[in-house]
Amino acid sequence: MLDEKQKLTHIINLGHEIARVNDVDLLLERILTVARRFVNADAGSIYVKEDNRLKFSHTQNETMQKKLPAGQKLIYSTFSIPIDNESIAGYVASTGRMLNIPDVYELPEGVSYSFNKGYDAISRYRTKSVLTFPLTNNRGEVIGVLQLINAMDGEGNILPFAREDEPFILHFANSAAIAIERAQMTRAIILRMIRMAELRDPKETGAHVNRVASYAVEVYERWASVRGVPFKEIEKNKDVLRMAAMLHDVGKVAISDAILKKPARLDPEEFEAMKQHTYLGARLFSDTYSDFDEASSLVSLNHHERWDGNGYPGHINPLSGLPMLGYEGQNGKALGKKAEEIPPFGRVVAIADVYDALCSRRAYKDPWDEDQVLETMRKESGKHFDPEMIEAFFSILDVIRSIGQRYPNV
Ligand code: C2E
Ligand code: SIN
Ligand code: SIN
Ligand code: SIN
Ligand code: FE
Ligand code: FE
Repeated sequence: MLDEKQKLTHIINLGHEIARVNDVDLLLERILTVARRFVNADAGSIYVKEDNRLKFSHTQNETMQKKLPAGQKLIYSTFSIPIDNESIAGYVASTGRMLNIPDVYELPEGVSYSFNKGYDAISRYRTKSVLTFPLTNNRGEVIGVLQLINAMDGEGNILPFAREDEPFILHFANSAAIAIERAQMTRAIILRMIRMAELRDPKETGAHVNRVASYAVEVYERWASVRGVPFKEIEKNKDVLRMAAMLHDVGKVAISDAILKKPARLDPEEFEAMKQHTYLGARLFSDTYSDFDEASSLVSLNHHERWDGNGYPGHINPLSGLPMLGYEGQNGKALGKKAEEIPPFGRVVAIADVYDALCSRRAYKDPWDEDQVLETMRKESGKHFDPEMIEAFFSILDVIRSIGQRYPNV
């Protein structure tokens, strides 16, 4: 057991740990993991305030996770509940007060909230002790709710959450709320950047880039774990990749609307102009040196290379757009990068981008059926795409589909 001082030090360190995560989805996952570990909770969920409702955004459940084959993820759907006194999470959000309930099936007499047993019935899980607390920012506003479920002792028995832990959890909740607000702002700025560039119909842009980024992160995670990349490195890479992938097409800002929004196939000359979006995007990040800029530059430059070497723009200097010395092919164009000459982030975003493009409506095409899309993805293994990464893609197809549902076109 940790003493009070050790617990305080520990919780402060956990606050620092989550503050390093920039992407909002990855941050919410991390907050759940860290908070659950601190109180040894079997499960937990996060609700984020959105349009004056609580959106159920992320959930983890160790017991249910253990029933899945190794490496497989729990699939869940998102939904939202009103901020009122009728649900536990709603009550906590509307009052700003923590609730520590030993058994949600035996609520005290006279409380306004009730526990919805529906989810337990569906998942055949028994929720018992529940610690629900508000995520309150420095202005005293509730921005979400964190719910920890079933505190466990060493033998797997469910206990009530310890009263002594409450102040630590509240301290952590404040660090978490600040980190979430910062990550939400970062994402909003990225989305605004993309929208201002008028890449596409503004209604579609947010969902499209969020899907591409989420697909890329999931495929990367599976591919990297199979290869034995250390967990810490994967986590850090997921964070920079998520944001870089959102920006993969930011170079289209320099492409004229006549080409970008042409409701028909591009002619060869127009397509040549379009190809410049790769290195024009890379240039936007070339004079800065954070991991984030480096990854964004790399993804922009490499997301249209092909595993078989027939992609673009090939071995060029992004600043000049000219072939690197020794890489001039016929008609003065650079030779395409081949296989592992293409950085992994480029290879994985290629898969995410094409998959999403084929599933979606474009000015120049209708969405394809899923069968057709998957057949193409399979067929292009070793041609357009890295075979190992395509294998990773197909092994997490259920996760990929759930991302499509999480970010639907509006
Ligand atoms: P995008 O629409 O996001 O498409 C990304 C990539 O998905 C494409 O890269 C291509 O590899 C794949 N893809 C998209 N639609 C189809 C399709 O109908 N069939 C097949 N086999 N693959 C598809 P690509 O070709 O290098 O194009 C890059 C970008 O150039 C596209 O991004 C889009 O913005 C634009 N573009 C490409 N072709 C056309 C076109 O015929 N008309 C217009 N208006 N834009 C085009
Ligand atoms: C809660 O009550 O806090 C969770 C949502 C529900 O079960 O109604
Ligand atoms: C192709 O590009 O011609 C095949 C389909 C794809 O890889 O996008
Ligand atoms: C869509 O139709 O755009 C969503 C499907 C997907 O991208 O997976
Ligand atoms: Fe592109
Ligand atoms: Fe794209």
